Amino acid sequence: MFTLTKSFAFLATILIHLHLSAAAPMQARPAPRQNPRPTSPSGSGSQFANAPGGGGVTGPSTSTATGSSPPTDVTTGTACDVSTASIDTSGTTLPAPSFSPSFIGLGVGTQNYTCGSAGTYTSTGAFAELFDVSCLVGQASFTSLQSTAFAAWNSSSSTSVSSTSSILSSANVISSPITLGQHYFITNPVTGSGLSPKWDFTSNALAGDADAFVVGTKVDDVAAPTGSVDVDWLYLTNLTGTLANEVYRIDTQGGQAPASCTSGSADITVKYTAMYWLTGGSF
Ligand SMILES: *[C@@H]1O[C@H](CO)[C@@H](O)[C@H](O)[C@H]1NC(C)=O
Ligand SMILES: *[C@@H]1O[C@H](CO)[C@@H](O)[C@H](O)[C@H]1NC(C)=O
Ligand SMILES: *[C@@H]1O[C@H](CO)[C@@H](O)[C@H](O)[C@H]1NC(C)=O
Repeated sequence: MFTLTKSFAFLATILIHLHLSAAAPMQARPAPRQNPRPTSPSGSGSQFANAPGGGGVTGPSTSTATGSSPPTDVTTGTACDVSTASIDTSGTTLPAPSFSPSFIGLGVGTQNYTCGSAGTYTSTGAFAELFDVSCLVGQASFTSLQSTAFAAWNSSSSTSVSSTSSILSSANVISSPITLGQHYFITNPVTGSGLSPKWDFTSNALAGDADAFVVGTKVDDVAAPTGSVDVDWLYLTNLTGTLANEVYRIDTQGGQAPASCTSGSADITVKYTAMYWLTGGSF
């Protein structure tokens, strides 16, 4: 199965190289990429930076032909090299990254809360789908993706995170969303108590690679510069897993619990979106 997948990836890589060769200057001969996400701006990943189509196209899209699909890099399941993209944490005191960006995921999901005896909500974790937005870096739509995505998600009658892909697609936020993976919470794998956030690409973009996850430790947590309706911006580092060395949650929209609750009332989920930037890692 593993060998078959690799063979398919190799074949598909060649096809994509052929497809792109008209628009992008090529290095001599395409080879299967052993280390598909270089942390330096040079290297084979950079050929995708100027690829046609701009990835998941935003705005009105009249074409659904195969030729307009994002130039997906089948060796990672993701599209464009983001190693030179910069993480905009302006308006906050979040630290600068120590590693180059590897993945940018638009997170669409819910923050979950339970009502405590004091009549206030406490967080019980979150669940979100992460969509690849790497090919939209630099496009006009990029800086408002979290807002357009939030508007579509929050106005949807669905509360199911599994329907977020079709919601983004029908609202034309991203015409053909590519799922990187999921963000959710697990029991802290080191201490065995408390919850830790996990970013898990093992079922989607890096399916078949059991190491394609990171569990994070929160290092920094600041109020969203956009206001108190939006959940905090965060900076985390790797606790376990090799998907990333650092994770930023920025550009948040929604997700905050009401200020008070009636003790004993049911748990709630609050819709949110955010941009998750993963840096470093071994993929
Ligand atoms: C949070 O709520 C979602 C529903 O949006 C659910 O799928 C998920 O399991 C919940 N996660 C936790 C940690 O409660
Ligand atoms: C995080 O990843 C680095 C490798 O880049 C490793 O040296 C370090 O031990 C990891 N941190 C933890 C807490 O595992
Ligand atoms: C999300 O939609 C609900 C109505 O379903 C509304 O009450 C709420 O204010 C919206 N959230 C934001 C942050 O706009």
